[in-house]
Amino acid sequence: MHSLLVTGGCGFIGTNFIRYIFTKTDYNGIVINLDKLTYAANPENLSDIAEMFPTRYFLEVGDICDIKKVSKIVEDYNVDAIVNFAAESHVDRSIYGPKDFLQTNVVGTFVLLETIRLYLERGKSIRFHQISTDEVFGSLAPQVQSYENSPYLPRSPYSASKASADHFVNAYINTYQIPATISICSNNYGPYQFPEKLIPLMILNMLEGKELPVYGDGLNVRDWLYVEDHCEAIWLILHQGRLGETYNIGGENEWENIKLVNLLCELVAKKINKKTDELKKLIKFVSDRPGHDKRYALNCDKIKRELNWKPKVDFIEGLNLTIDWYLQNSLWLHKVKSGEYIKWIEKNYLFR
Ligand code: NAD
Ligand code: TYD
Repeated sequence: MHSLLVTGGCGFIGTNFIRYIFTKTDYNGIVINLDKLTYAANPENLSDIAEMFPTRYFLEVGDICDIKKVSKIVEDYNVDAIVNFAAESHVDRSIYGPKDFLQTNVVGTFVLLETIRLYLERGKSIRFHQISTDEVFGSLAPQVQSYENSPYLPRSPYSASKASADHFVNAYINTYQIPATISICSNNYGPYQFPEKLIPLMILNMLEGKELPVYGDGLNVRDWLYVEDHCEAIWLILHQGRLGETYNIGGENEWENIKLVNLLCELVAKKINKKTDELKKLIKFVSDRPGHDKRYALNCDKIKRELNWKPKVDFIEGLNLTIDWYLQNSLWLHKVKSGEYIKWIEKNYLFR
């Protein structure tokens, strides 16, 4: 692999993945980051990488649904692998406006697959990796785990769009023999996550003394994985994963939301010299998310067995790293919240 196209690289996991490649691996090829720069993106996340590796890192602003743009990038940079992170990713937004989810998550993935199919038809070589989510398996009863071959039962517009994209990937593997893999991951946390998701939202609200909104009874369960562990697993699959296969990547670290919010209160209180109870008083039970999935849980035996992967970062350690990052990056928070990066886009791209 010498030319890797990462889509959605200015978002949370894509940013961490590109940083991982440049700082934690011996990869010496190029990385092209194709990102539409939606509200969830921040190109400045990678400005140090862009400065340090001007001949190896390239940002292309564009839409994965634009087949001309995608094909031109693949052609111009001689791309030999694509990892698709680009997505609308927030369940609550999918409930209030599902259309963008269908467009980017389904049509966008389809466009990437079509580009690859046409490229392969011309005798070129390229592989594809799709980033998926444990939400495709739907809401689980206690003790149940989802395996790679468990039936898909998505219940939100977000998970339905991600499930649909996965079905297209598998259909293209089966019908056109495209060399592709899928990974299905549980909830990620860590630096650079947009503060609309549970963990960064809670940290931020604690710092600002705002209410901590817990949906419903707070007993919904999520499995949490530190984002760098996810990045390492993707890198392993890209290099050693069997083509045509799906791999689950989970933290084996299930938490009821309310227990997690209480834990965050304790950890943040220690860092900012406040009493834990002062932060806990901010917890407010609010109306439940419509159709709120009760629980997700992945069985990860396959990736452990085949690729010798397991999560490395302990949860308390990962949460402390995350809290420290948000404490040290108040400017980043201010910028993503105020949409200041849009000015950056205008300066650097629109009038280039
Ligand atoms: P994110 O919302 O932080 O980032 C998404 C990125 O995609 C943004 O930079 C955005 O600008 C870009 N994008 C959106 N539409 C685009 C388009 N049409 N063309 C090009 N770029 C576009 O999301 P994330 O949390 O980093 O998630 C990345 C991937 O991982 C998604 O596919 C998501 O479904 C999956 N995933 C996320 C989690 C999680 O906990 N965050 C867990 C499992 C799987
Ligand atoms: P979220 O971070 O949105 O991820 P997902 O819905 O994809 O799992 O939410 C994680 C859990 O936290 C989910 O059960 C919904 C809940 N939640 C709250 O209770 N309050 C909040 O303000 C948010 C954003 C989420």
